[in-house]
Amino acid sequence: MAEPARTAKRVIGAEHVSDAHQRGRVVIEVLPGDIVTAQAQETAERLKIRLVEGPLEKPAVVRTDGATAMRRTLYRRSPKWVAPPVQQTRAARRITRLALVGAGGVGANIAHLAANADVAEEIVLIDIAPGIAASVALDLNHASGVTRSRARASGGDQLSMVAGAEVIVVTAGRPRSPGMTRADLLDINRRIVRQAAEAIRTHAPNAIVIVVTNPLDEMTVEMLRATGFPRNQVLGMAGTLDSSRFRNALALAAGVPVSDVEAITLGSHGDEMAPITSRARIRGRSLDRFLSEEAIATCVKDAVTGGGQVVALRRTGSAVLAPAHASIELIDHIRGARAGAVPVSVMLEGEYGIDGVVLGVPCHLGASGLVAVEELDLAEAELAALKAAAEAIRGRLGL
Ligand code: LAC
Repeated sequence: MAEPARTAKRVIGAEHVSDAHQRGRVVIEVLPGDIVTAQAQETAERLKIRLVEGPLEKPAVVRTDGATAMRRTLYRRSPKWVAPPVQQTRAARRITRLALVGAGGVGANIAHLAANADVAEEIVLIDIAPGIAASVALDLNHASGVTRSRARASGGDQLSMVAGAEVIVVTAGRPRSPGMTRADLLDINRRIVRQAAEAIRTHAPNAIVIVVTNPLDEMTVEMLRATGFPRNQVLGMAGTLDSSRFRNALALAAGVPVSDVEAITLGSHGDEMAPITSRARIRGRSLDRFLSEEAIATCVKDAVTGGGQVVALRRTGSAVLAPAHASIELIDHIRGARAGAVPVSVMLEGEYGIDGVVLGVPCHLGASGLVAVEELDLAEAELAALKAAAEAIRGRLGL
């Protein structure tokens, strides 16, 4: 742009300098012919303002993009004002139809949490015990007048009710009694899982299946085999539960809120569980900054035996609340309400050097189920624990 022609010479006085100072300027441009008074010189010196011979080179005009110009116009802020970054809202979908095979403690609590957190449009409960699933569904619908939940629940004893489900959680099966290991349930629960798998394969061939029935890793293998589904469609829920127990133990031991603890467990949902201490953090620091080696070992043991502790107290049946929350965590990853890797039992295809067996590993989930297995840098002993867990599961399944 051409300089406008100068019409008048200026007298730059002390007040001119003071005014420039007040406006935060440090330079005054003196053009040819301008008169600078002695007071102005003095004031400029005192206020550390430089009087520079002009004309000064003008900085290039900054071309502002349309969006920024619009924001400035709308908000009428100073040009220094920077718009906050656009919030990326996580597009969490509601599951259209969530089917729960098994309406015992875990199934009923999943239904309850799913209804209250607006996880699904429709919740279908199925249980072979007559009246159980229908009663839970009715009970839940009765609560909607208070909770205002939009979810509609229904229940029955026919496995064909899984039809059209987007996500199916299988909790059906015998729970442990005190003194039993999860592996003791292998033969009895295998038959139940196979029946569920038949129905799922026939009536809901596109569903994502979350297996909760124990022994978890082995039952996930059974579900894969009996449905013939690809690995992305069959997920075993255990790592989110065991990790929650591990975090709870660490928080109690360190005397911090559990929100300050990050920790996961991998491996099997059983004796070969692998709580990952090398990557665990309390307030962003490694565990040894807060806990002794013995205290860490006690927390690890607490995670591994957590389910058994509940069984011993209840005498009949196993934990229901934490497993329900941990199942919802997986559903939230599937529907996009949570992001990042989460421990899930999936069929490994060479990850961590393990192939052809289901094991708990960090996974990214999405609408198609398993999206990717995340291979973490683990300590040598932790990697060895994963391999040992894989061998133990293979042994139990006679693979
Ligand atoms: C538990 C059972 C559900 O760990 O395996 O509580």
